[in-house]
Amino acid sequence: MAGAGAAISGSAGASGAANSAGNGGAAGSGGSGGSRALRTPAYNGLRGESFNGGWKFNRGDVTDGQSTTFNDSAWRAVTLPHDWSIELAFSSSSPSGSNGGYLDGGIGWYRKAFTLGQASAGKRILVAFDGVYMNSQVWINGTSLGTRPYGYSTFEYDLTPYLKFDGSSNVIAVKVNNKQPNSRFYSGSGIYRNVWLTQVDPIHVPNSGVFVSPVVSGGAATVSVATDVHNQSSGSASLSISTTITGPDGATVASNDSPVTAVAAAATVTVQQTLAVPSPQLWSVSTPTLYRVRVDVKVGGATVDSYVSAMGIRSATFSATTGFALNGQGMKLRGVNMHHDLGALGAAVNYRAIERQVEILKGMGVNAIRTSHNPPAPELLEISDRLGVLILDEAFDTWEQTKTANDYGVSFEDWAQRDIQAMVMRDRNHPSIILWSIGNEVGGATTATATKLKNWVLELDNTRAITWASNKMGGPHVSEGDDRAVADLLDVAGYNYAPYAGNYDSDHTAKPGWKLLGTEIAAAVRTRGVYHTPANKVTLATSQSSADRQCSSYDNEATGFGATAESSYKYDNDRAFVSGSFIWAGFDYIGEPTPYSSWPSKSSYFGAIDTAGFPKDVYYFYKSVWTSAPMVHLLPHWNWSTGSTVTVYAYNNCDSVELFLNDQSQGVKSAVAPALHVEWAVPWASGTLRADCKRGASVVAMDTVKTAGAAARLALSADRSQIHADGQDLVFVTTDVQDANGVFVPSGNASITFSVAGPGQLVGLDNGDPTDTTSHKGTTRKAFNGKALAIVRSTGAAGEITITASASGLTATPILVTAQAVP
Ligand code: GAL
Repeated sequence: MAGAGAAISGSAGASGAANSAGNGGAAGSGGSGGSRALRTPAYNGLRGESFNGGWKFNRGDVTDGQSTTFNDSAWRAVTLPHDWSIELAFSSSSPSGSNGGYLDGGIGWYRKAFTLGQASAGKRILVAFDGVYMNSQVWINGTSLGTRPYGYSTFEYDLTPYLKFDGSSNVIAVKVNNKQPNSRFYSGSGIYRNVWLTQVDPIHVPNSGVFVSPVVSGGAATVSVATDVHNQSSGSASLSISTTITGPDGATVASNDSPVTAVAAAATVTVQQTLAVPSPQLWSVSTPTLYRVRVDVKVGGATVDSYVSAMGIRSATFSATTGFALNGQGMKLRGVNMHHDLGALGAAVNYRAIERQVEILKGMGVNAIRTSHNPPAPELLEISDRLGVLILDEAFDTWEQTKTANDYGVSFEDWAQRDIQAMVMRDRNHPSIILWSIGNEVGGATTATATKLKNWVLELDNTRAITWASNKMGGPHVSEGDDRAVADLLDVAGYNYAPYAGNYDSDHTAKPGWKLLGTEIAAAVRTRGVYHTPANKVTLATSQSSADRQCSSYDNEATGFGATAESSYKYDNDRAFVSGSFIWAGFDYIGEPTPYSSWPSKSSYFGAIDTAGFPKDVYYFYKSVWTSAPMVHLLPHWNWSTGSTVTVYAYNNCDSVELFLNDQSQGVKSAVAPALHVEWAVPWASGTLRADCKRGASVVAMDTVKTAGAAARLALSADRSQIHADGQDLVFVTTDVQDANGVFVPSGNASITFSVAGPGQLVGLDNGDPTDTTSHKGTTRKAFNGKALAIVRSTGAAGEITITASASGLTATPILVTAQAVP
C-alpha cells in the first residue's frame, strides 16, 4: 500500500448556497446489476438519490404555481427526465423554425410534493438538476431559490432552511421558459435531465468537492486528491480525511489519512493529499481501466460523509509537430460531433439510449466525441469513461453576441463564469475528457473574453488543454472577428472546416507553435438509402422547392463546405501535425436540416447515422479507414431497371475487392489514391451483387446486396433480448421490410402499427427520414427506405414483453424480450 503527504489549506466562507454548481465525479463501472437510473449513482460522489419520480407537469404559464396551496390536481403526472417538446406535433408555424426542428417550447411548470422524516432533520438536503432547458426558476415551499438561464448547466440548491421534517408535505416547484427561437438546433424543453436529492451531514464534501488528478511518470502514478469540506454545523469541528484508491479488481492500491484539522463553523477547507499508485493499469480507449477513489470525512474518528469518484490514469498531450498522444502513444482523434437529442426520445436523457449511441459510434471506429456545443448529460461522460471514448467538453455556442434572438448570448455576460465553472467542476474527474472548449464559432470574439473564460477554467483545472472551434481562421470569414488572436491564447487551435475556413499548411508554417485540430470537418449531407437515379450521378438538389428533399448517399455527390467525407478525411489524416478531427456529425439530430431550411425538413442530413440509429453508407467509409478487422460494404441497393448502368461503391479495408454479379466477376480492384473506396460501373441485371474482400489471396470478408421482390413481410429484431425491469431500460426494435424470400426491400415504405403487451411501453418511433413530420410518439409510422424503429421501455415489472408490428398485406412475427427483475 502506498501513499504519502497531506496538506491542508483553508478558506473561510460558505459554499453550497443557491446556484452553486456541479455534481459529483464519474461513476466507475457503476453496479451493472442495478437499475439503469442507478447506473449513475456516482452522482454527487455516490451520495445522490434519484428525485425523478412523482412530479406533476403543466404546459403553459400559471399564476402562483410555486405556492404550497396551489391546486395541481389537474396537472399531468410525469417521471423525469421529461421533454415536453418531443411530445408535440411538428408544426410548420413553430417559433423554433427549421433550426429548432419545428417543435414548440414555451412555458412549462413542474411541481413535486415530498415528505421528510425526523431522520433527515439535522442533515443538509440538497437538490441538483443536471439540466433544465431553459430559464428555470425553482421554489421550495413558496420561497424562490434562484434562476438558471443556461439550459445545459448542472446546478444545485440547498433546501434545508425551508423544509419541514414532521412528515407533512414539502413542495418544490420549477418554472421553465423556453422562449423560442433560442437555438440553432433542437434543444428540448423542461427538466430533461436527471434530478438528484442528496442528504448529507452538516460537515460534508460539497457537490463536486473532490478533485482527483493522477499524473503518470516512469511507470508510476501520483494521484493528487483535493477535497473540499464544508462545515455547516453550529461549531468548529476537528476533522480528518481518509482516502482510499481501489483498483479495477476492488483491491486497495493506495490510502492516505490526513492530519486532523480544525474547521470553523461556516468555513470550507481544502485538504490536499498525494497518493502513489505503483505500476498503474492505464486508462485508454481500448482498455478503459477505472480505479475508484473513496474519500471519508471523519470527525472524532467517526465517518460523517463519504464521497466516491471514478478515476482513470492516463496522460493526454497535444504537440504542434506530432499531434495528439494518449499515454505517450501518438493517436489520431477519430471524432464525431454530437448534439444531445436522442432521436424519438427528444432531449429526455436515458442512459441506455446514450449508451447505444456510443456503442454504434464505437462500431464505426470512433474514439472521440465533441459535445457540440454545450456541456453534455453526465451520463455520456460516465459511459465514455467506461467504454473508452475521448471527450472534448464544450461550454458555449455563443458568447456576448447572439446567434438567435433569445439564446444564451443575452445571459452570457452575467452567467458565463458560473456556467463554465459549473462544467469544469462537475466534469473534471472524468478520464475521458481531454479538452475543454470555451466556445464554437463565436461571433465577435475578443481576446478579453477568451482570456477570462480560459482563466476561469484554469482556476478549477490546469491539467487539461483548452481549445475552441473557429470557422474564421482564414478563408471567407477571416476578417469577422479576432479569432486568430484568440487561437494564440489557447493550447489547441480548433478549426471548423479547414481548408475552406483556414489552412493547416500555411498556419503550421506561420504559427509553428499552434497545435492544430479539426474540431469540425466534412458537414456533408446524405439521406440513408437514397441514390439519385437514373445515372446515379445527378447533382444534389439544393432547391428549397425540391420535391423529395433527400440527399444522395454517394460521397462524390456530397455537399457541405466543399467537402466529401473522403477529401475531408485525407486533409486531416495526411498531416502528422494535425491531432485529428471531428466529423460533422455522428448522428443526425433534430433541427438544422441544411440545405433545406423550410418545412417539412425537420432534422439534419449531416449524420453518418440517422436519427433512428441506422447507419448510412458513409458510416462504412469511416469504418473502413478507422478500423482494422476486415470489412467491405457495398452500395447502392440492387433494385434498378434493365438498361441502367449502376455506379457501385465498395468501402473496405482490404488489399483488393472482387465484385461479382450473379457469380460473374466484374473485376478485382484496389483503391487508387486519392480515392479511398473502389468503384465499378455495372450494367444492372436482377440478382445478387457480391463483394469479396481479399487480404493476400484469402477472402476475409464479404458483402452482398440482392434484388428484392415485392414487400411481403416485416422482420423484427431487437438490440437486446433481455433488459432491466427498472422503468428506465430500453429495447430498440428494428423492423425491416422484406420480400417473400427474406430479401431487404430498399424502397419499403409500409405504414406500420406497433403494439406492446406485457411489462413494456412504446416510447418512440422513428425511421430516419428528415422530412417525416409524423409525431415520434404515436403508434404508427411508415418505414423509410425499408426500415423503421420502435423504442420500448420497461415498466418496472418483470416478465415477457411482446412487441408486434403490423402493416396491410404484410406478415410479421412478434418478438419477445425479457424484462428481468432488478436485484
Ligand atoms: C458549423 C456549426 C455547426 C453546424 C455545422 C453544419 O458551422 O458549428 O453547429 O451548424 O456548421 O452546418
